[in-house]
Amino acid sequence: VAITYRPLTPADLPALFALDQRCFPPGIAYSQREIRDALRLAPRGFHRGAFAEAALAGFILTLRRADRGHVITVDIAPEYRRRGLGQALLSAAEAFYRHTGAHGMRLEAAVDNTGALAFYAGLGYHTVRRLPRYYSPRLDGVLLHKDWAPESEAAR
Ligand SMILES: CC(C)(COP(=O)(O)OP(=O)(O)OC[C@H]1O[C@@H](n2cnc3c(N)ncnc32)[C@H](O)[C@@H]1OP(=O)(O)O)[C@@H](O)C(=O)NCCC(=O)NCCS
Repeated sequence: VAITYRPLTPADLPALFALDQRCFPPGIAYSQREIRDALRLAPRGFHRGAFAEAALAGFILTLRRADRGHVITVDIAPEYRRRGLGQALLSAAEAFYRHTGAHGMRLEAAVDNTGALAFYAGLGYHTVRRLPRYYSPRLDGVLLHKDWAPESEAAR
């Protein structure tokens, strides 16, 4: 089935929340309110959904934070993973921030989320530092950055 991409709207909120619950363990998944607040700030950020027919297959939520695009989350439904949807959504966000003058991207991930860490490393993200107890008293995070040179715009 063909995947189509479109901006997210408040009407997508229940599907976003349901998919986030499937993608993250309890305590790490966002609350419905956190997702709603991120969507409300949409004019300051970049959000997009990947849809298989009408069903949500994945999405990305990002916000501008100082001179970087900040990835709040990338969620791909388990049955749609390893088909390039995550990469397509992240690349679209990077293009948005590059074109609006940001210097790079940033995000946090849990140290035990090996799949996501491999995903980001392969797309040019590097570890800046460990974030002790970022997710819980027993779960550290890592801060990842991707940087691009101003002239890379012309090189593309
Ligand atoms: C991490 C995640 C977003 C990746 O999405 P995806 O659509 O499966 O990723 P893509 O198909 O675009 O993968 C691109 C490349 O990243 C790497 N990659 C992706 N998932 C990987 C995994 N689980 N293990 C190792 N490498 C992985 C591969 O190199 C892959 O290319 P390949 O499939 O040709 O080998 C997805 O697994 C997910 O939603 N996980 C749960 C939520 C989460 O942890 N999100 C990140 C929050 S910080």
